[in-house]
Amino acid sequence: MRSEKIRKKFIDFFLKNKHKLVESSSLWPKDDASVLLTTAGMQQFKPFFLGIRDPQIDLNSKIFVSSQRCFRTSDIDEVGDATHATFFEMLGNFSIGAYFKDEAINLAWKFLTKELHLNIKKLWATYFIGDKNVKTDSETVKIWKKFLPEHRIIGYGAHDNWWGPPGKSGPCGPCSEIHYDFTSQPCVKKEKCLPNCECGRFMELWNLVFMEYYLDEAGKLSKLPFKNIDTGMGLERLALIMQKKQNIFETDLYSTLMLKIRQNKIFGQVSEIEDLIRARIVSDHIKGSVFLLADGINFGNKEQGYILRRIFRRALDQFQLPNIDLNFIFELVDVVIKKYAKNFKYLNHRRQDILDQMKIEFDQYSKVLKLNIEALVKKIKSENSKKQFGEQTGPSGRHLSAHEVFVLYTTYGLSPDRLKKIGFNFNTNEFEKEVEKHQAISRAGAEKKFGGHGLNSSKLSPEQKSKMTRFHTATHLLHQALRQVLGKTVKQQGSDINYERLRFDFDYPQKLTQDQINQVEKMVNDVIKKNLPVTFEKMTLAEAIRRGALAFFKEKYPENVTVYSIGDFSKEICGGPHVKNTSEIGEFKIISEKSSSAGIRRIKASIQP
Ligand code: GLY
Repeated sequence: MRSEKIRKKFIDFFLKNKHKLVESSSLWPKDDASVLLTTAGMQQFKPFFLGIRDPQIDLNSKIFVSSQRCFRTSDIDEVGDATHATFFEMLGNFSIGAYFKDEAINLAWKFLTKELHLNIKKLWATYFIGDKNVKTDSETVKIWKKFLPEHRIIGYGAHDNWWGPPGKSGPCGPCSEIHYDFTSQPCVKKEKCLPNCECGRFMELWNLVFMEYYLDEAGKLSKLPFKNIDTGMGLERLALIMQKKQNIFETDLYSTLMLKIRQNKIFGQVSEIEDLIRARIVSDHIKGSVFLLADGINFGNKEQGYILRRIFRRALDQFQLPNIDLNFIFELVDVVIKKYAKNFKYLNHRRQDILDQMKIEFDQYSKVLKLNIEALVKKIKSENSKKQFGEQTGPSGRHLSAHEVFVLYTTYGLSPDRLKKIGFNFNTNEFEKEVEKHQAISRAGAEKKFGGHGLNSSKLSPEQKSKMTRFHTATHLLHQALRQVLGKTVKQQGSDINYERLRFDFDYPQKLTQDQINQVEKMVNDVIKKNLPVTFEKMTLAEAIRRGALAFFKEKYPENVTVYSIGDFSKEICGGPHVKNTSEIGEFKIISEKSSSAGIRRIKASIQP
């Protein structure tokens, strides 16, 4: 059964069971600052899980099915083995406060055994044994006992059976995994050879997450407003089983790529196994690069761009040096596009841009490869030791500090993988931490503190500051008025204030009519005239969300937030400052309404004293 058919069977099964199909979201989650990339199918449903948005209003359903493109950097060093990839597709079904454990397990079992006819004897299940916060999931054990003998239902702690949140805070919960047993022969561990054993006997196939908790940044767990289901099953792994292969790279999702790479003998004189592993790395990383580029990410030193650069250069690093050929890379790109374009139609439109970006990056990296790396390392080491000890201690050895690797990377573009390959050693985790540290600093610098709107700038006169504060409160009124006039699907996409005007971006599919503009303007002015008090309260983010405060998802909120209320009309998470009473705002006037980018409208407004 080819992957196209497996994907379709999954979707059709859940459609038949009344789920609504939702398209895969972008790998670049632009309205969620808590993560760099989309790593799971649940991410686009996060505002629903949190209760910030109502799926019934937005999508006219509470239960969904999707095949989500995902990218996980956590598995980068695992790529090359039988089952890991950075880019993969995740089949998933989701329930937002509708069905829970019983139906989720029943549906999963039915799909695997009745639709795909997997051998029941090959299936095992795991459950959460509990910890100091959450008790043993005996409900799940009870449900599984309807389908599986007790000895194939195994309990584990949070390491294996607690999922999420992606990022530091967000929805999460205990999970139950379905594992596939390739052989029934236990390894040397004998009876301890169980799901999650590293011998390769088992493969985790499907993860059913019982998402009823919220973890805040301080590590505090609270309950979400309702119980949700989030499941994820790797298409590649399911294809492996259905196509009776030994590893994902033999499935139709990789086989053409693998064949092309291996036939071309691009790795030089390496052993058979080395050739195989390198081919797997190249096929995964080129595929991942194509998908990241297609979603608009460009090569860079930071955040998403850093990840893209890292995998693309790592793919190039596999080649024997004189053999790197851009045209060959382009051929691989076309193999990827051809395989996926039917399901991800945008790939064809993005092809030229992908090739153009790759060429620029390729040329840049080719220059790096010509550098005398030994000399650069020597230079960096000596600069570093001068800084540390105030004198040159004489660099020695092939060990690099995380900071040195970071400098070599950011200054010369030398990837950590390349440095490792040519015999330098360093602690990769420390290096990743160094990257994270710098990313956090740059994010903090780039982010306008919400609510701040540059009001702390000493260059502003008191009159200017007061005008901006009035605009700021007016922005909250505009946001709420838009939601009342156009519907609750209106979501803030951006906001900018100076002392002459406010600017507010929001998602809405078409131009507003003059009548809608008039209604919004009137609603804001009516509220202003009611002389409503503007008050604030401090609370946890989870509490704010539970109370229905509007949030701006591009913002990365701290654990404790301030919620500003304007009478009963508006409630929004915000850092202030605001006026004390709406009467201070003055008369509100919409100056323009136009498109800002695809699906996003932009309103500019002024206030009269
Ligand atoms: N969200 C479920 C998973 O990624 O396994």
